[in-house]
Amino acid sequence: MRGTARVPGDKSISHRAVMLGALADGKTIVSGLLEGEDVLCTVAAFRQMGVAIRGPSAGRVEIDGVGLHGLTAPAQPLDMGNSGTAMRLMAGILAAQRFDSELIGDASLTRRPMKRVIEPLTAMGANLASADGGRQPLRISGGKNLHGIDYRLPVPSAQVKSSILLAGLYAAGETAVTEPAPTRDHTECMLRAFGYEVAVAGATARLRGGGRLRATTLDVPADISSAAFFLVGASIAPESDLLLPDVGINPTRIGVVNILRLMGADIEIVNARTVGAEPVGDLRVRYRRLRGIPIPPDQVPLAIDELPAILIAAACAEGETVLAGAEELRVKESDRIAAMAAGLRAVGIEVRETPDGMIVRGGGIRGGVVDSQGDHRIAMAFAMAGLVASKPIAIHDCKNVGTSFPGFAKLARAAGLRIESTEAAS
Ligand code: S3P
Repeated sequence: MRGTARVPGDKSISHRAVMLGALADGKTIVSGLLEGEDVLCTVAAFRQMGVAIRGPSAGRVEIDGVGLHGLTAPAQPLDMGNSGTAMRLMAGILAAQRFDSELIGDASLTRRPMKRVIEPLTAMGANLASADGGRQPLRISGGKNLHGIDYRLPVPSAQVKSSILLAGLYAAGETAVTEPAPTRDHTECMLRAFGYEVAVAGATARLRGGGRLRATTLDVPADISSAAFFLVGASIAPESDLLLPDVGINPTRIGVVNILRLMGADIEIVNARTVGAEPVGDLRVRYRRLRGIPIPPDQVPLAIDELPAILIAAACAEGETVLAGAEELRVKESDRIAAMAAGLRAVGIEVRETPDGMIVRGGGIRGGVVDSQGDHRIAMAFAMAGLVASKPIAIHDCKNVGTSFPGFAKLARAAGLRIESTEAAS
């Protein structure tokens, strides 16, 4: 893989930019927004609640914020598509509105646990009803007066933390969330960029309800979760030398770089700078032989979305890589532990699956047929395995690549991957 690949905008930051822009006083202008289906669901939801949003077009969007109390009741259920982030963060916002609402999503979202937001939001005074087992659809009753809580997250989850903090904007008194391990802090950073005070001390973030968000101008960095596929691709394909410009390198997202470097990867961060509220840099990655490692448990939450790509690196490394403490992967867009283990075996790699991870023995990747199980990150991870496979790899069910990385196949092709696609993954 050679040349320069500018991957699209960060998904987590894009969702938050649309949400806070809609709830701010005044006009927010965002550039670099990810125009993936997940983020477009968030845009559509706010339009349904009366927010004028122009774009996105070439990553630019203008949002006429209506203020924290300016949303209007949607006439239809709000469809969050494939996006857990949209559903969980929107639940926090909607729990505090005067009107009733309903959140729905696709089949994958039906399998994802929502109790993790229902419980704390209910403790704040909200009323959310779900299908059996805390599954979507979520029916949210409006007109509840929320109060702050002091909540200790049972799992490290930025989505749950963010849902509670967003509800906390409307709650009486102080809302505090303590996390068991650091998770991405984009909500805290962006609230500050909108002029809202958030105090962070150690593992606890706190804010007081009743303030206002002031419209602002934001530039969304390239998504390190999308860059991860190219970091792995260039690390495993001999003679690669690839530049990935403008990538968000927030320390709460940088696990993939840390882990790949521990495996021996040659990744350089150049031109490090701050863009708005977020650290950004250009990543230069060159081929280097990798070795298997025990993945440090403290890096797992910091690389949670990048672990499928990292497991492809593990399959190409010398020796054994041990992933543990990653049980959260079982409740992502697919059961990513099962999907990766099955896919790796299908291309000739020896894997031992465990409840919270797997042990991968590096070896030669053969061709084969992989089922992505409708999960964008599984599909893109195995696409990169194609760089070193002895025969072609066919990956099925790739249409959800467009949820996070529209244009993936085109960009990968330009960088040197021989990839053909018959689905929206183009
Ligand atoms: C996200 C948080 C993570 C991550 C997801 C995006 C976010 O989920 O997997 O892709 O934007 O807050 P959890 O917080 O559930 O781990």
